[in-house]
Amino acid sequence: MNCIVNVSRNWGIGMDGDLLVHLSEDLRFFRENTQGCAVILGRKTLATFPGGKPLKNRRNIVLTRSSAAIEGAELCGSIPEALRLAEEAEKQMSCWVIGGAEVYRQLLPYCTLALVTKTEIDTAADAYFPDLDADPNWELADRSEEKEENGVRFRFLTYRNLSPLSLS
Ligand SMILES: NC(=O)c1ccc[n+]([C@@H]2O[C@H](COP(=O)([O-])OP(=O)(O)OC[C@H]3O[C@@H](n4cnc5c(N)ncnc54)[C@H](OP(=O)(O)O)[C@@H]3O)[C@@H](O)[C@H]2O)c1
Repeated sequence: MNCIVNVSRNWGIGMDGDLLVHLSEDLRFFRENTQGCAVILGRKTLATFPGGKPLKNRRNIVLTRSSAAIEGAELCGSIPEALRLAEEAEKQMSCWVIGGAEVYRQLLPYCTLALVTKTEIDTAADAYFPDLDADPNWELADRSEEKEENGVRFRFLTYRNLSPLSLS
């Protein structure tokens, strides 16, 4: 299981329930990596998608303590259940943790890679991803050249977990 996230300079990921920045190249990168895969997300992140609908062409596993059905999504009520579904999904496809903050924090120890789009912005945030540069369990494995879109500079970074926890 891996995770994918877009962070600001100080690892902010969202504000008032929305992303901090919308970059078309990053959205394409997200789509290309997650198409045909399973994605694990929190109910609050699902609510930020257009129409609050699950992502197309992906198996959507939504963490929530509610039992209200969501069309096109599989509900999952706990982290152990999410890990079980991820393990089962990975027999057929890759599995990506796609946020938000609460879900990243709980599932990050089980992720092998983190694809981090690091944007050089300092926008105020109320949701954060853990600072992987400060975590000795994670090492920077790859870094793209610097890119720029609408005046925002960013890079695609790959971090590797040196001791991921087993899904089972
Ligand atoms: N920059 C990025 O790449 C990125 C990616 C995704 C999201 N975001 C941003 O992140 C923010 C949302 O993050 P968030 O932390 O507020 O919410 P979240 O992680 O998306 O969702 C939290 C919800 O997930 C459910 N949940 C979490 N842990 C659970 C558990 N152990 N068992 C069962 N259910 C569980 C609960 O749903 P119920 O309340 O229904 O029980 C909880 O309220 C938004 O601003 C969004 O735009 C940014």
